[in-house]
Amino acid sequence: MVIGGGAREHALVARLASEPDASEVICAPGNPGISAIARTVPADVSRPDTLVTLAAREQIDFTVVGPEAPLSLGIADCFAADNRLLLGPTAAAARLESSKAFAKAFMDRHAVPTARFRVFDSADEALACVRSGEFGFPVVLKADGLAAGKGVVIANDEAQAEAGVTAAMIEGRFGDAGSRLVIEECLTGPEVSFFVISDGMRALPIGTAQDHKRIFDDDGGPNTGGMGAFAPSPLVDRAMHARVMRDIVEPVLAGMSAEGYPFQGFLYVGLMLTTSGPKVIEFNVRLGDPEAQVILPLLAAPVLPVLIAAARGQMLQSAIRLSEEKLVGVVIASRGYPESADSGRSISGIADAERTAGVSVYHAATASRNGQLVTAGGRVLTVVGRGDTFADAIDRAYAGVARISFDGMQYRKDIGKKALLEDRR
Ligand code: AMP
Ligand code: GLY
Repeated sequence: MVIGGGAREHALVARLASEPDASEVICAPGNPGISAIARTVPADVSRPDTLVTLAAREQIDFTVVGPEAPLSLGIADCFAADNRLLLGPTAAAARLESSKAFAKAFMDRHAVPTARFRVFDSADEALACVRSGEFGFPVVLKADGLAAGKGVVIANDEAQAEAGVTAAMIEGRFGDAGSRLVIEECLTGPEVSFFVISDGMRALPIGTAQDHKRIFDDDGGPNTGGMGAFAPSPLVDRAMHARVMRDIVEPVLAGMSAEGYPFQGFLYVGLMLTTSGPKVIEFNVRLGDPEAQVILPLLAAPVLPVLIAAARGQMLQSAIRLSEEKLVGVVIASRGYPESADSGRSISGIADAERTAGVSVYHAATASRNGQLVTAGGRVLTVVGRGDTFADAIDRAYAGVARISFDGMQYRKDIGKKALLEDRR
């Protein structure tokens, strides 16, 4: 069973359903795209107790979790208490994502490279910190808790920083998530995402990617959940890969285990490649979306046996074969995203796009209404192109996008452009 209902979960289900060890894959709750390749069952991902009941009713042998919410709410703890096999971190281990203050203090304890920081529970002290200019400007303010990718403010000067502190800690813009604030130095450099599977001790790297977080071309406009991604990242060569494993992934896993909450599941390390080396921007305790859509298809060997071994704490494999191909995924979003999202618009052309060579389409916010596929939220689809070069993969992804239409659709035209530039270095 795969928990979740976005394009990341569509990619997971597509992958797992194609593997020899899976007799059947079901998805809870899934979406119309997923229901074309697997059975979907209604589910409330914010209620881990009901998901255990569902797993029992459906006689599920193994569960994989897509999004962070059920993990931070303790789905892994609930399944373990019922002796059910699931891959995903416990709520205590999921704090690497659900509490930025926890993640930062943990990195401090284990000498994992990250931006210099301080944690504040008092608005007065946070204001004093930004007024002192201790971290210089720009300075970065982060709400402690989960804020759907919107809890980070990069303040260019003291006035913006004061406004950010006030909004988070006094006006409650991020709700409870912002009552505690991390203030940190602003790093510069390209951002890359680095993914591993862990069984609690050991790490199996499964690839790298680069996301496109801003809504508009050339990284303009507000942050989103991610408007497109490519894999692998040309910036992570063999030496960089080894350095990230040695200086970041291994100490993190060893530290989590030593502190009594070993990390099992997908670990997504968000890195900034600074002039003084790779530094952690954030951890996520799950696959990324849209990164999963470009990483999973590159795994050139079955992944289900690895996931099961990791969930059992017995992952003996330390590497998995990766394809040499390049993948580029373009997210198609609704009018108004990310501030709001239009919905209920008829979508056409998906079947056409899927018939294009080297193109896959994954559903996110789609719904079926009277037999017609319609939009149902912000990020609607991810169209992925694969090829021997990034140029081919880009052409294919956009050839797929060109077949699809709905009223108000928006997408970036420059996904993968960075890969072309970086690849040429
Ligand atoms: P997060 O929600 O932690 O992923 O942060 C959102 C975005 O803010 C990241 O993708 C970065 O682009 C940016 N960011 C976060 N922390 C820093 C930092 N210390 N320095 C510069 N940019 C940052
Ligand atoms: N694409 C960013 C994330 O999944 O968090």
